[in-house]
Amino acid sequence: MTNNASALPSTATIRCGVIGVGRMGRHHARLCSQVEGADLVGVVDASEARRNDMVEQYGCGAFASVDALIAAGVDACVVATPTVTHRAVVEQLLAAGVHCLVEKPLAPDETEARAMADAAARGTAILQVGHVVRFDPVMVAIRNIPNLTPRFVEVDRVSPMTFRSVDVGVVLDMMIHDLDVLIMLMGSEPEEIHANAVSVLGEAEDVCNARLVFPAGLDGIRCTANVTASRLALKTERKMRIISEDAYVSADFGERRGTVVRKAVNAAQLADIRARFKSGEDLSGLNYLELVKVDALDVGQGEPLKLQLENFLNAVRTGSKPFVDAQAGFAAVRTAQRIVECARRAGARMI
Ligand SMILES: NC(=O)c1ccc[n+]([C@@H]2O[C@H](COP(=O)([O-])OP(=O)(O)OC[C@H]3O[C@@H](n4cnc5c(N)ncnc54)[C@H](O)[C@@H]3O)[C@@H](O)[C@H]2O)c1
Repeated sequence: MTNNASALPSTATIRCGVIGVGRMGRHHARLCSQVEGADLVGVVDASEARRNDMVEQYGCGAFASVDALIAAGVDACVVATPTVTHRAVVEQLLAAGVHCLVEKPLAPDETEARAMADAAARGTAILQVGHVVRFDPVMVAIRNIPNLTPRFVEVDRVSPMTFRSVDVGVVLDMMIHDLDVLIMLMGSEPEEIHANAVSVLGEAEDVCNARLVFPAGLDGIRCTANVTASRLALKTERKMRIISEDAYVSADFGERRGTVVRKAVNAAQLADIRARFKSGEDLSGLNYLELVKVDALDVGQGEPLKLQLENFLNAVRTGSKPFVDAQAGFAAVRTAQRIVECARRAGARMI
């Protein structure tokens, strides 16, 4: 059946498929079978047992090849196969006019990511990349903070080794989540990168720290981000701290909470304190905590993966540009590759 790559009627049910129903894909299959306006036509997986498991759970079709799923008639597919296979699967779907939501990272390297972004630009079907952290209610709350102009960002994303996604290093596997949101927040890729990494289990890096310097904004000031990712930690932690002129934001994605600290004093009071400080007056009697206002980050509800799927389906229905398009996926992969190359130049022993 031919697929219609142009905008669909706003009430149209979107015929969906999921390619790769392993750890991530099974969640996508669940959501495609549950979300209003989506119909899970079928799944494709190299493993017959995994395909059959989805048939049992959702009563969907099961196909041994992407061609067979396309022939069954799908408008949109979620691609959750290993990263090294993304390009072949996505290009086949795009060529058939099927809209794609592909798991992060878009591709294992810049060259493949570029080719996929070019394929999307040539065709009419949408290519969205699954940078799901953008849809995390904690990230949504951060994006909603008015006048947030980051000067310094600190990010930690660490967890114990799961022995999954080892087809890529920790930068493409984990740090890429933070690279995408940093590029989104700053509006550009970093212009300067310093990085170091350690490989313990295989040849690809398992721990990496990168210092990223972003181009100056309209005010001429550059922002620096210090980003750490590890898949060799003893605990799981997802934290981000943002220091801006007007606010300090501390967010814990694991705990789904955060705080926003702002100045509680007005401009005249601040000018007075500055003048007294400059004159050498002893200010130790001032209570700092009375000078700042601490609010809880206004974190909403929702499963990030579901919010992402709804956003994708809306882009398919309306023909609008997806929130995380192929160009954004490419920018994250290019930045990841620059970090790995920088770490290698710094002496890290990797492939
Ligand atoms: N968004 C996130 O937070 C997140 C988390 C983990 C993984 N991921 C990404 O999801 C993707 C899949 O990772 P995973 O952990 O689910 O892997 P997985 O190994 O658990 O599952 C992959 C599935 O794809 C199947 N498969 C492999 N090659 C195939 C092919 N050519 N055609 C059809 N099926 C094929 C396998 O049989 C397997 O069932 C990766 O790109 C990974 O980076 C994203």
